[in-house]
Amino acid sequence: MTARKRAPSEATLEPQLKSQEKTTATNSTTDLSPIAPSKAAQILKLSLIFFLPYFYLILSHYNIDADLKRSIVINAVLSSVGFLVTLTLIPVASRYVLRRNLFGYDINKKGTPQGSVKVPESLGIVVGIVFLVFAILFQYFNFTSDSNWLVEYNAALASICFMILLGFVDDVLDVPWRVKLVLPSIAALPLLMAYAGHTTIIIPKPLIHYLGFEVLDLGWMYKLYMWLLAIFCTNSINIHAGLNGLEVGQTIVIACAILIHNAMQIGVSSDPEYKQAHAFSIYLVQPLLATSLALFSYNWNPSSVFVGDTYTYFAGMTMAVAGILGHFSETLLIFFIPQVLNFLLSLPQLAGFIPCPRHRLPRFDPQTGLLTGTNDGTLVNLFLRQFGRMSEKSLCILLLIFQAICCGFCFLLRWFLTGWYK
Ligand code: UD1
Ligand code: MG
Repeated sequence: MTARKRAPSEATLEPQLKSQEKTTATNSTTDLSPIAPSKAAQILKLSLIFFLPYFYLILSHYNIDADLKRSIVINAVLSSVGFLVTLTLIPVASRYVLRRNLFGYDINKKGTPQGSVKVPESLGIVVGIVFLVFAILFQYFNFTSDSNWLVEYNAALASICFMILLGFVDDVLDVPWRVKLVLPSIAALPLLMAYAGHTTIIIPKPLIHYLGFEVLDLGWMYKLYMWLLAIFCTNSINIHAGLNGLEVGQTIVIACAILIHNAMQIGVSSDPEYKQAHAFSIYLVQPLLATSLALFSYNWNPSSVFVGDTYTYFAGMTMAVAGILGHFSETLLIFFIPQVLNFLLSLPQLAGFIPCPRHRLPRFDPQTGLLTGTNDGTLVNLFLRQFGRMSEKSLCILLLIFQAICCGFCFLLRWFLTGWYK
């Protein structure tokens, strides 16, 4: 159903085909009309709901060391510049991807005039590149006494960069499903190989009595766990998708939750290593959030650009890496409850017990503009079956609210379990 095509390679073109290419080029120039303006103003206003309390926690509520606070603020300033650069570059890149015939049709608008518009695909590539540039520049401004953190930080960036590359390869080549699932396992290698941090887990207090020890060294199994987490986070974001704004929206909600969690942990802890681990996560997630907000400004309903697998893989890998190096992977998995549910619902189709079509999206009725749930095992379809037919925008808002509720539930759970669980 995707209408993604690639322009033919010059080397293989016969003269006859070259004339065809000209036609394509002429056709595509007609497609090169500018994309709809961004919705940045509305999105920035809405994001104040997060930014005001977050910066209050960092700057005023908690007594955070001056150096650490300075690094976080510099990272936030760089991220804001990243937001503006991404916002400026997306319309430019959109023209280039359209020129190379990298576009998709909006399936949930099929049968309406909007359904036949060529929507530029893979704009995650802009987000990924801007993120990397600012994350690399930031190293200059992190004022810690030792530079050991640079090894893991750069390994993390290498994994994220590898994931962006493989995501873009997937977008361009449209690789088969089984191969898609494997791509993140390759991209996670730089991090796994460079990881020299601890491989121990703290046993939950209620279990210490039965097991007889407080700390368990998992050794290589810890690395296996990290690897599986990276594979899960990337693929689970990619398959909870297909509604305008859902891919980026879920990332934004989770990124906000991660930042609040990091700020709270830095605020209450007195252990410098623990604080550094959470600061590490902040340095990766702030630029992720800022650049994602810029993409969201173009991807929110009606989408004028699509994010591509480049973005879903990149976002999943960045959050996985933040969770691994920040040592809060259990909390991260609770933030990911909707993705876990969607994955469980998808299992029969992913495992091949039930046929899995190329797109597992709801059915769109062009007369009413409403979506109806199909039998494909996704959270999107489950919500439609439970709550009845609704518009794509309402469904996406409902799913994002559900994501926020799950993140809120995680904070509540942590609050109840503190002192009893660990
Ligand atoms: C995953 C899902 C697939 C879902 C697709 C939507 C699984 C196993 N795969 O596949 O069911 O249909 O994501 O992204 O669960 N699109 C829209 N509206 C949007 C976003 C995307 O119509 O808001 C369509 C466009 O035609 C776009 C295409 O989806 O070109 C992108 O699909 P792609 O990301 O390649 O799909 P997969 O990740 O392989
Ligand atoms: Mg995808």
